[in-house]
Amino acid sequence: MNFKGKVVLISGATGGMGKEIALNLSKKGCKLALFARRVEQLKEIDKQIKNTESESIYNPCNVKNIEDIKKAVELTKKTYERIDVAILTAGVLVPNPIQTFDGDIIKNSMDINFIGNVYFIQYLLPIMKAQKSGIIAITATLPDRRGVPGWGAYGASKAAVSWLMESLRAEGKKRYNIDFITIKPGSVLTPMIEGYHRHGAVTAKKAAEYIVNGIEKGKKIIQFPIGQVVMIRTMDKFPVRVYDSIDVESQKGDGYPQVDEE
Ligand SMILES: NC(=O)c1ccc[n+]([C@@H]2O[C@H](COP(=O)([O-])OP(=O)(O)OC[C@H]3O[C@@H](n4cnc5c(N)ncnc54)[C@H](OP(=O)(O)O)[C@@H]3O)[C@@H](O)[C@H]2O)c1
Repeated sequence: MNFKGKVVLISGATGGMGKEIALNLSKKGCKLALFARRVEQLKEIDKQIKNTESESIYNPCNVKNIEDIKKAVELTKKTYERIDVAILTAGVLVPNPIQTFDGDIIKNSMDINFIGNVYFIQYLLPIMKAQKSGIIAITATLPDRRGVPGWGAYGASKAAVSWLMESLRAEGKKRYNIDFITIKPGSVLTPMIEGYHRHGAVTAKKAAEYIVNGIEKGKKIIQFPIGQVVMIRTMDKFPVRVYDSIDVESQKGDGYPQVDEE
């Protein structure tokens, strides 16, 4: 797959990874459509892209608002007449300590990290079906198979993304020539994990390279960095007793909010 001339829609375009993906693709002669809530940041990225061989448009989009998602897809199609690739990175990471377990945090995480992507897929599919081609790449997370103490809201929403993508991948390709790619980053140094020290985290620029190269190579699952992939996939195989013996606080990570019980 060659990005030259391709129409690429990016959600979460103001984020650590989303912005770097946009800047990486701007060197490849793409037609970019950038979406997120913070318009000033979108404007700034759009300005940087205007000095490259790529084109770009942008518009505010809150993925909790289904109408915004519909408009984002319509605007991209109307401007560029097709949509070749969607790279959907909008997401939030919110701790939900067991001491103050809060269903609203889980609902909000599901709405942004999962349901937002569900509606992007719904509005992209008719366009890509008509084109008989397309790529939908969505960010889940590397630890998407087993729970992590304190991070249940995030993990559940990302596991849902992985599961949905698995269920669409084979049929989407066979019926409509649409590729569903699940992006599973380990720790990436972006505003999302600021304050949570994560050992072995890669830069957002490096993460963007993994993602763009992975799409170019036609990977179905893009997971990185290799050291963390080996560690997480090994832990996935631990029997429950062994898995549960891992220190809880160390899994939450430095910077996780301390909660005093009443
Ligand atoms: N960083 C990591 O270590 C890591 C690891 C695994 C997976 N991931 C996933 O990778 C993706 C990118 O993460 P990142 O690290 O680049 O995070 P980030 O820097 O915090 O960026 C998050 C992006 O999501 C957008 N966003 C948040 N809420 C939104 C909403 N309601 N509507 C529309 N956009 C919204 C933000 O834009 P606005 O605020 O402008 O709306 C921002 O562009 C996320 O899905 C994240 O869960 C990250």
